[in-house]
Amino acid sequence: MQSAASCLTDLAGRDLLSCADLSAEQTEALLSLAADFKQGRRRVDLGGRALGLIVLKASTRTRVSFSVAMGRLGGQVIDLDPAVSQVGRGEPVADTARVLSRFVDALAIRTFAQAEVEDYAHWASIPVINALTDLEHPCQALADYLTLKEGFGELRGLTLSYVGDGNNVAHSLMLCGALLGVNVRVGCPAGYEPDAAILKRSQSLAASRGAVVEVLHEPVAAVRGAQALYTDVWASMGQEDEKESRQQAFAGWCLNEELLAEADPRAIVLHCLPAYRGLEISAGVMEGSASRVFDQAENRLHAQQALLAALLGGL
Ligand code: CP
Ligand code: NVA
Repeated sequence: MQSAASCLTDLAGRDLLSCADLSAEQTEALLSLAADFKQGRRRVDLGGRALGLIVLKASTRTRVSFSVAMGRLGGQVIDLDPAVSQVGRGEPVADTARVLSRFVDALAIRTFAQAEVEDYAHWASIPVINALTDLEHPCQALADYLTLKEGFGELRGLTLSYVGDGNNVAHSLMLCGALLGVNVRVGCPAGYEPDAAILKRSQSLAASRGAVVEVLHEPVAAVRGAQALYTDVWASMGQEDEKESRQQAFAGWCLNEELLAEADPRAIVLHCLPAYRGLEISAGVMEGSASRVFDQAENRLHAQQALLAALLGGL
């Protein structure tokens, strides 16, 4: 097995489009490095290197945490706001990616289709980071498992139950959890299951780490005994037209006090945010003593600092 240091230096110049782009060792090492940054035990200087940010969906946490992370690493961010750059006017990805590769040292992209970030990665000669697509949200998953690790110390053997839509956040939690040896249960109504290929991939990764990834259709069964309960919006960005039909389909799936009572008494509550109180999560659980949602949001900064330091060759 590689040392933590060498498995991270291997990430220099690489893309992060999916949690499955990382090995188990690299995922663990990134979480350790993130904790080191958070505790002030590690400093890295990227010497003014630049990250281009292309954000085609709304964002608060991702936009700000990437900007602050680059600042703390001695780098800078160029925000390619689609409203004022040619990105929003339809300049081809092949051209944008090759031009930006001459100016900046990495790109973080939030968009709709996973194929679009793959296209950027194909044409760019610099690392491309998935800052959320319809399929995955890998930076979020790193922050989420950092938060779980803070709560329990050792991740292997824990159970994280995600209740709600089998969406981008669920997919990254499944893959990243599998790599870390965390059992991941996805509880969702029929018709809102996670992507079948991601389920299969995460189940095979989990098997090699002695963990289980499963999908259940009953909320109490999904959360029983779990150490972490996680939820996300029922209608993701791009699904605004389905908001009402989804509210009907997800009736009974609110992460509330009754559901929390079925979990491990030490269980923590996570949500990637933004949240809709009274829909996917009750106000009481969101603000209750089990909630770690604001630590989790803060951990986006530390996790991305570790990721940027590794991909930009700062280690
Ligand atoms: N969780 C998350 O990605 O938040 P933003 O949409 O605000 O970036
Ligand atoms: N699933 C949500 C996550 C937001 C951070 C969305 O894609 O809108």
